Amino acid sequence: MKLGLDGKVAIITGASRGIGFACANEFLEEGAKVVLVSQDAGRNVAAAKSLAATAGDRVLGIAADLADRAAMDDVVARTLKTFGRIDILVNCGAAVIDDDFFNLSDDGFDALFENKLNGTAGLIRRVVPNMRERKWGRIINFSGGAARTPKSARIGVGLNNAAVLTLTKALATELAKDNILVNAILPQGIASERLAQAMTTATADAPVRKVTNPLGRAGTSEEVSGLIAFLASERASFITGAAFTVDGGAYPSI
Ligand SMILES: NC(=O)c1ccc[n+]([C@@H]2O[C@H](COP(=O)([O-])OP(=O)(O)OC[C@H]3O[C@@H](n4cnc5c(N)ncnc54)[C@H](OP(=O)(O)O)[C@@H]3O)[C@@H](O)[C@H]2O)c1
Repeated sequence: MKLGLDGKVAIITGASRGIGFACANEFLEEGAKVVLVSQDAGRNVAAAKSLAATAGDRVLGIAADLADRAAMDDVVARTLKTFGRIDILVNCGAAVIDDDFFNLSDDGFDALFENKLNGTAGLIRRVVPNMRERKWGRIINFSGGAARTPKSARIGVGLNNAAVLTLTKALATELAKDNILVNAILPQGIASERLAQAMTTATADAPVRKVTNPLGRAGTSEEVSGLIAFLASERASFITGAAFTVDGGAYPSI
């Protein structure tokens, strides 16, 4: 299947590792130009360097904190300066803040939204004007299983993921007239570095995490990234406002 991603310009957050890195790799293999956004400068440089070894100047790494508005302005400005346009935004970056609702102060509660929800919304606000100019765009937001299985003990993850779904549906409706398609992914049990570690090592706050699903195993980042590449492509031209679960069948409802 030809995806038609050749020459498209994608900003991918959380691209230093895990699912975001797998997406960057997949997009580059399809001929796209990719801007890798992540927080830690060392990891960002290492990821960009490893991908540039085969993709050359189609890769741009930018270390930026999703909670920093000025840094988000800079991501968009540098992307436009380097590649001249923005076709695709993949909002994959997020730090996991696991905390029980009753352990949070008012300020701690406010801070929960600073990377995932505000980073997602902030980048969408900044890239849409460029997409509108060409009447073409793809935005893929990362939610997660916790959006549909609310727990007080994981309130930060759950609220961010639920809010990302609401944002996705609202903007899909609003941006359809500009041919900008907005969809969400709900991964669960994907053995990115972070989860792989949680599945093998207990910490003071959490026991070893068990992944349970009908397939009986954890997924890989590459088992998510193929779907992202498809949704970002011309082939997905009639799909918007949808939420796709990638969890080995873990979610018990239809
Ligand atoms: N893995 C799963 O099973 C699962 C389940 C539910 C939801 N999800 C969602 O899927 C997405 C990817 O998950 P993952 O497991 O692949 O994550 P991951 O391996 O933990 O990687 C997280 C990425 O986000 C970046 N990041 C974190 N905080 C940031 C910030 N403030 N500013 C900029 N970048 C930041 C990290 O950059 P650094 O390298 O610099 O830290 C890293 O590149 C996330 O949105 C996550 O919530 C995943």
